[in-house]
Amino acid sequence: MVTGEEGGCLLRVDRVAKSYGGLKVLNDVTLTVPQGSITGVIGPNGSGKSTLFDVITRYTACDSGQLTFNGQSITGLAPHQVSRRGLVRTFQLTRVFPALTVAENLLVFAGRPSGRGASRGGRHGEAAAGNPAPADPADAGLPQGEDQVRELLEFTGLARLATAEAATLSYGQLKLLEIAQVLMLRPKMLMLDEPMAGINPGLADEIAAHLLALRDRGLTLLLVEHNIPIIQRLCDTVVVLAAGQVMARGKPGDVLADQDVREAFLGD
Ligand SMILES: Nc1ncnc2c1ncn2[C@@H]1O[C@H](COP(=O)(O)OP(=O)(O)OP(=O)(O)O)[C@@H](O)[C@H]1O
Ligand SMILES: [Mg+2]
Repeated sequence: MVTGEEGGCLLRVDRVAKSYGGLKVLNDVTLTVPQGSITGVIGPNGSGKSTLFDVITRYTACDSGQLTFNGQSITGLAPHQVSRRGLVRTFQLTRVFPALTVAENLLVFAGRPSGRGASRGGRHGEAAAGNPAPADPADAGLPQGEDQVRELLEFTGLARLATAEAATLSYGQLKLLEIAQVLMLRPKMLMLDEPMAGINPGLADEIAAHLLALRDRGLTLLLVEHNIPIIQRLCDTVVVLAAGQVMARGKPGDVLADQDVREAFLGD
């Protein structure tokens, strides 16, 4: 069993529980995410990783437990209130507007896209965007939003695809676009649910480099990922979930060398 606690945490999850019917999906989960770190969450399929993300971002109410972000309780908030406080997330299944261009998909998060309306593009997967764009349509097309779009297109390497419809992007490019979308909200902390899943190794390396660059700019990241080499490369701390419980926490090298973890998760 590996455990450890650092000071200066931005997010604290305290004794959180969540059941679906008789199934205890999260059972007394306690963890902290240190400010300015990349923290990884790993665990077998069905161990509760995405549910943990849903609970933290308040898409799903937990049955018990406390959530504290940036020193304030977020336990009773609605998802849009959580994201307004600077805690945003992406989803395991990408959610972009397929009929909008790449640039428009970013402008949606600054206000309404200029020109062609958002009404053409239903989202992939569930209907709600969740991380809401600022509500005031008067913000649409303001230079500030457009400057931010340009900067994020450059940062993610999507600038050459700015006028391409999102429907034409590869799955990996969609993942990058989704990261750029939530960065439009200028978050303090970004939660990513399997950002490398199903994408080619070259683009996975590219996304990894972007995540490190974001950390170096001061963003705090919480990352669910099955790709262990990526976890080892990126994460300052790893939390292992098994059957809804935290079974280990610590530096990636220590956690991944732990015999209990290897038996439960890596099949050794
Ligand atoms: N809305 C729901 N209703 C009922 N059961 C659910 C619901 N959401 C998740 N579960 C169950 O909770 C368990 C944990 O699911 P979750 O999606 O959190 O796992 P995960 O660790 O993200 O898995 P994966 O690695 O496959 O993405 C699973 O048994 C799943 O079937
Ligand atoms: Mg999941």
